[in-house]
Amino acid sequence: PIMLSAESLKQIDFELAKYPKEHNRSAIMGALRIAQVELGYLSVETIDYVAEYVGIPAAQALEVATFYNMYDLHPVGTHKITVCTNLPCALRGGMAAGEYLKEKLGIGFGETTKDGKFTLVEGECMGACGDAPVLILNNHKMCSFMTKDAIDQKLAEWSAS
Ligand code: FES
Repeated sequence: PIMLSAESLKQIDFELAKYPKEHNRSAIMGALRIAQVELGYLSVETIDYVAEYVGIPAAQALEVATFYNMYDLHPVGTHKITVCTNLPCALRGGMAAGEYLKEKLGIGFGETTKDGKFTLVEGECMGACGDAPVLILNNHKMCSFMTKDAIDQKLAEWSAS
């Protein structure tokens, strides 16, 4: 059965067109991202399907999906918050931001709030160490200088949406 919309498949075709056929492997990251945006997370079935569509072995696609933490292998909340706790950030408030988020949301890393609104995870360096503490919303929206006040503000904004 077809698991993705025509629109998503069109976007994947676009990714595939960027690389010569023997490098279809390179398109898998984009293809998985597109599938995740449509379906919310990547089940094993979805990964198999995308691998087949892109034309690479399923095991290779699974490797990519499990290696990068922007891929969610389980359902996540509407707002997935990835807080950077790598060393440069950790030294500049990253840990404190993570602890504060845990306290405010009442969940630990890797968990989702009961209402399904928020998932909290730890992330790797996002290349924005100078803006620490930083977090990324839903794998793409970077939020810098996340002091307690800034976190309060963001959470209020996201809770309302
Ligand atoms: Fe956090 Fe680089 S260590 S963005």
